[in-house]
Amino acid sequence: MMTKKMRNLLIGVVVLLAVLLTAFAMFEMAAAAGQAGNQMKMQLGQGQKIYMQYCASCHGTDATGKGPVAIALRVPPTDLTRISKENGKFPIEKLQASISGENALPVHGNRDMPVWGGTLNRNQIALLVKYIESIQKPFSI
Ligand code: HEC
Repeated sequence: MMTKKMRNLLIGVVVLLAVLLTAFAMFEMAAAAGQAGNQMKMQLGQGQKIYMQYCASCHGTDATGKGPVAIALRVPPTDLTRISKENGKFPIEKLQASISGENALPVHGNRDMPVWGGTLNRNQIALLVKYIESIQKPFSI
C-alpha cells in the first residue's frame, strides 16, 4: 500500500523530471536557433565579401549602382537594392541566372553586365544572391 507521503514524493519527482526535460528542450532549441543565426550571419558576410570584390566597382559599395566604373559604361548598372520592388518579390532564380550569365543570349548582343558563371562557382553566386536579398529596400521607399 502506498502512503500519502510516498505518493506526494512520487508526484514531486515526476513534476521535477518534467520541468528538467522542458528546460533541457528549451536550451537545445535556443542553441539550435543561435547556431542557425550564426550560420546565416556568416553566409551574409561571405556574400558581402564577394560582392565588394567583384561587383562594387560598378554597382557601388551600397549597391545602388554608383560605383566608380559606372560613368564609363553605356548602360548604368542596376540598383541592386530595388530588385524586390521592381519584381514584386525577390526573384532568387532569375537573379542567379542573370549573374551567372545563363540567360545571356547571344542574340541580345553584348551586355554591359559581365558574365560571372566562369569566375564564380554556384555556391559563391548563391552567397551573393543571399547578400543582395538581405540589402533590399522595403517597397515603401
Ligand atoms: C563592369 C561593371 C559591372 C560589374 C563589375 C558588375 N555589374 Fe552587374 N550590371 C552592370 C550593368 C551595366 C548592368 C545593367 C545593364 C545590363 O543588364 O546589361 C548590370 C546589371 C546587373 C543585374 C541586373 C541584371 C538583370 O538581368 O536585370 C544584376 C542582378 C547584377 N548586375 C549583379 C551583379 C553582381 C552580383 C556583380 C558581381 C559579381 C556584378 N553585377 C558586377 C555592370 C556590372
